Amino acid sequence: MSISALQKARYAYKPKLPSALSGPIDEIAVEFGATTEAASDKDELREIFKLTYGKPLASFVKGKNDKIRRELKVGVILSGGQAPGGHNVIAGLFDGMKKGNPNSTLYGIKGGPSGLIDNKTVVLTSQIIDEYRNTGGFDIIGSGRTKVETPEQFASSLETAKKLNLDAVVVIGGDDSNTNAALLAEYFLANGSPIHVIGCPKTIDGDLKNENIETSFGFDTACKTYSELIGNLCRDTNSAKKYWHFVKLMGRAASHIALECAFQTQPNVCLISEEVEAKAMSLDAIVDQICASIAKRAENGDNFGVVLIPEGLVEFIPEIKKLIEELNDTIADEEQEFITLHNFADQLQWFSGRLSDISYAILKMLPSDIAQQFLMDRDPHGNVQVSRIETEKLLVGIVEKKLAVMKDRKHYNGKFSYQTHFFGYEGRCAFPSNFDSDYCYSLGYSAFVLIASGLTGYLSSVKNLTAPADKWVAGGVPLTMMMDFEHRHGSRKPVIKKALVDLDGRPFKTFAEKRAEWAEKTCFIYPGAIQYFGASEVCDVPTVTLRLEHEK
Ligand code: FBP
Repeated sequence: MSISALQKARYAYKPKLPSALSGPIDEIAVEFGATTEAASDKDELREIFKLTYGKPLASFVKGKNDKIRRELKVGVILSGGQAPGGHNVIAGLFDGMKKGNPNSTLYGIKGGPSGLIDNKTVVLTSQIIDEYRNTGGFDIIGSGRTKVETPEQFASSLETAKKLNLDAVVVIGGDDSNTNAALLAEYFLANGSPIHVIGCPKTIDGDLKNENIETSFGFDTACKTYSELIGNLCRDTNSAKKYWHFVKLMGRAASHIALECAFQTQPNVCLISEEVEAKAMSLDAIVDQICASIAKRAENGDNFGVVLIPEGLVEFIPEIKKLIEELNDTIADEEQEFITLHNFADQLQWFSGRLSDISYAILKMLPSDIAQQFLMDRDPHGNVQVSRIETEKLLVGIVEKKLAVMKDRKHYNGKFSYQTHFFGYEGRCAFPSNFDSDYCYSLGYSAFVLIASGLTGYLSSVKNLTAPADKWVAGGVPLTMMMDFEHRHGSRKPVIKKALVDLDGRPFKTFAEKRAEWAEKTCFIYPGAIQYFGASEVCDVPTVTLRLEHEK
């Protein structure tokens, strides 16, 4: 097999561990805090998670641990979208297990949670693991978005785990996957099985975070990858001086990625969905904001610029949000009839009288290729697949029309040419940055210590992430303390709370202070490519978001 020079060099990288984990393996003790509570819906959660609710926070310290040398059998699952560093979580888990006891076995559960339901596994050997160390992707065992949901799926999952004689299952996933991990942990115990379940916080979206989980892995690398590309666009447009670049960025509902990329590149406009919702900004108001920057810069002779658009924006614009809700309900209520309609003209006709007048008018007003994107399948968790809606094209079309009107009224006298881009998949399998390589390896290693110490229903956690890695604090957070309830598919379901951009938080406030200047002047920053070898201030720095969140 031929590999790139960087891949070869990355095999030799030794991820850094927190000091509590870097000493001899049987000198990692667990220290427990007070018992925990969920922030809301405590009684309901206590009822659902009778055996796993309210456990104490766990942290690792130097000390005796006589359980750690046990021989273990563990199954590991990669769940949901790819995020840089997943392979290192598995490598950290593997190395911890083998240090604990060389006879321990790690099974890779193939293709996501469906591999557990269908018993599709592979024994991970050191030869396999070594081929994936410090590399991006989830291709070591594959991933999937199947949810363990029905009683039959829970029963088959337990059956597979029993057949393999597992001591534990590790779920590497986002909020939905870790909600599943919590339900599995409870189900196994409730069915008299000692098999434990531990989660690891993954998602480039950065929305699995709270006071105990500082960031999800993959966010750092994905943002740095997109920022490199955006910085290159900034420099290109500052050289050619002829295009406005409209860039949509992945991240589902949350705008964390857009905000972080804005810090790293200082574009002219960056929309934040959470602000759009809080201020109930209409599509028109958003377009006005973009046009104001274009017109102001045109006055200065700068007919170029960069606009960042978070992937989930459309769901936060009040009139479009209402349209999506009405479409969801109407399609769900009459799904059998809807799927018989094979072209867009028939679908449009069918919605007449079924949607409110306002929503119907918006659907008709949208360019037909964009309107069709609103009607596509929902994902298995019931989410609209926002990555498939071309918001950047929708906005640019309306901006162009508005600028023509402004020109007629002598409010604008520039030239407008544009390019649209969508950066998402480009960043999900990048070679993990040193930060993600170290963080993920530490998360995997911590997952091993949690399992060996006999814990279940915990999310592996590593904190104090703006300090050098040896000062990081590793441990585990009870999954139930991060939960509340949401309406999904018409009923109330326990879920791990998604963290959207906090408009009162330091990152957003810092951005809000700076954006007026960026909108008018050319303040671009060019971050360049992720560096893996060299000075620590170039190679190891965490995201600006994390640094600002840590500032008091
Ligand atoms: P996860 O929440 O599973 O980590 O997914 C992240 C993500 O990349 C989102 O940003 C994006 O909306 C979605 O996955 C795209 O999904 P798919 O890979 O199914 O196209």
